[in-house]
Amino acid sequence: MKAVVCKQFGPPSSLVLEEVESPKLKDNEVVVQVKACGVNFPDTLIIQGLYQFKPELPFTPGSDIAGVVKHVGSNINHVKPGDEVFGFVMHGGYAEEVVVPGNACFIKPPMMEFPIAASFMMAYGTSYHALKDRGQLKEGETLLVLGASGGVGLAAVELGKLMGARVIAAASSDTKLTLCKEYGAAEVINYTTEDLKSRIKELTDGKGVDVVYDPVGGNYAEPAIRGMAWEGRYLVVGFAAGDIPKIPLNLALLKGSAIVGVFWGSFAMKTPKKNMKNTMELMQWYAAGKLKPHIHKIYPLSEASNALEDMMNRQVKGKAVIECS
Ligand SMILES: NC(=O)c1ccc[n+]([C@@H]2O[C@H](COP(=O)([O-])OP(=O)(O)OC[C@H]3O[C@@H](n4cnc5c(N)ncnc54)[C@H](OP(=O)(O)O)[C@@H]3O)[C@@H](O)[C@H]2O)c1
Repeated sequence: MKAVVCKQFGPPSSLVLEEVESPKLKDNEVVVQVKACGVNFPDTLIIQGLYQFKPELPFTPGSDIAGVVKHVGSNINHVKPGDEVFGFVMHGGYAEEVVVPGNACFIKPPMMEFPIAASFMMAYGTSYHALKDRGQLKEGETLLVLGASGGVGLAAVELGKLMGARVIAAASSDTKLTLCKEYGAAEVINYTTEDLKSRIKELTDGKGVDVVYDPVGGNYAEPAIRGMAWEGRYLVVGFAAGDIPKIPLNLALLKGSAIVGVFWGSFAMKTPKKNMKNTMELMQWYAAGKLKPHIHKIYPLSEASNALEDMMNRQVKGKAVIECS
């Protein structure tokens, strides 16, 4: 089978597409013929050796997959060969076939196309866990989303609106912000041309926002925290800007506020039942037409490195997807 292989940590251009052996199956696993694999920011880090864990070289990146079951291990009885599924793996998705742990492999709703199914788990799973479980977002509250047109950001905008919040979307261009408005943002801030903290204050009559969803970090984190309301919650989702911000803790004291970490992958592994419940709720919303994942572009497997480069150059709006077979 063909797979995109990372033989040495480096930029996307160092990835190679080559013929590799088909994956071997264990009792609790499922071999899936991958139809589509979503591109996520952690993929850009993992190939550079900059992510929380470093896989042994050589390896294939890609976590969010959708495809057709080819073989099942002897302990698997919730899916069978021929079933259309979506699932989550640590890596290995940018390939024609991948081995998925049985407990991370789910039947795909028939109306959900493969590219959409491969764009769903990480973006919506992370943002729903963040807003619901970690941020305790309530109806009527104000939510600020940074990097709001990105994969997890746009999902947070859509979910925030669905959960009854007034959403303020912040991003780096007016084109990106137009998309955020289509996904439910009531107000927008262009943080490359406007001062983030003063605009937050203007848009909230000086009160500040109740919840900040931050997948960007860098220079935006501190002004966002300074723009929070009393008892606000700042959600630490990621550091796409590269720098991990260092925050003066007196800000948390002065606002009676909380700085709350979000790590969806660990949440899903440590509390699979809670994650399953969230996934079911998200699927119900999807089936009811309330969630519409935005696909930026579908890239062939041979152009996986272009997809990663586009993401690193901040060109992707919503989700980039790789068509694998
Ligand atoms: N905690 C978790 O469980 C979890 C789960 C999934 C992802 N994440 C993290 O969330 C972040 C976003 O992931 P994603 O897949 O949504 O990525 P994405 O689609 O590329 O979105 C990231 C956004 O960050 C902004 N950005 C600012 N500076 C950037 C830079 N130097 N390079 C790239 N983007 C920059 C961009 O928006 P503007 O151009 O508008 O600024 C971009 O739209 C990543 O840090 C990822 O690791 C965390």
